[in-house]
Amino acid sequence: MRERAVGKSEKFHILVLHGPNLNVLGSREQAVYGNASLRSINTAIAKFAKREGISVAIRQSNVEGELVSWIQQAKGHFHAIVINPAGYTHTSVALRDAIAGVAIPTVEVHLSNIYKRETFRHRSYIAGVALGQISGFGPTGYLLGIQAAIDHLKTARAAT
Ligand code: DQA
Repeated sequence: MRERAVGKSEKFHILVLHGPNLNVLGSREQAVYGNASLRSINTAIAKFAKREGISVAIRQSNVEGELVSWIQQAKGHFHAIVINPAGYTHTSVALRDAIAGVAIPTVEVHLSNIYKRETFRHRSYIAGVALGQISGFGPTGYLLGIQAAIDHLKTARAAT
C-alpha cells in the first residue's frame, strides 16, 4: 500500500479495486463481460490516469477480507476509490461498512448492466455508501468512474 500521506495540493491518488473473478476476464462469460483481459483494462486505466495527471494503484482480490483491509488501509493515502465489487456487490455488508468507515469518496463500477440481469444482481449493498454507480459500459466504465471521482475531488478541493 502506498505510504504517502494525502496532502491538500498534491495530485490525486486513486485506488482502483477489482473484486472476485475479475482476474479471469477475457475468458469468463465473454457474452456478458466481453473479451478484454484484466491486464488490458488495467493498462487503459494507467494510460488514462497519466493523461489526467493523477496516480492510480490497482489491485484485484478474490478474497472479501483482503478487499476490506485494502479499503481500511486506504485512509490517509488515497483521495478516492473506484471499485468493481463484482459478486460481493450483492452480498457484502462488510465491504459496505469498510467504505462507510473510511469515508473516502467511492465510485462503484460494473462492466455489465446489472439491472438488465438476474433480479439478485439488482440489489447493491455498495450503492448506498458510494458517490454513484456506473453500470453497463464495459471497461470504459472504469475510466468514467475515475473521471467522476476526479471531478468530485476538484469540486471539493475548490470549496476548501
Ligand atoms: C459485475 C456484475 C456482478 O453482478 C458480477 O457478480 C460480477 C461482475 C460486473 O462488472 O458487471 O462479477 O460486477
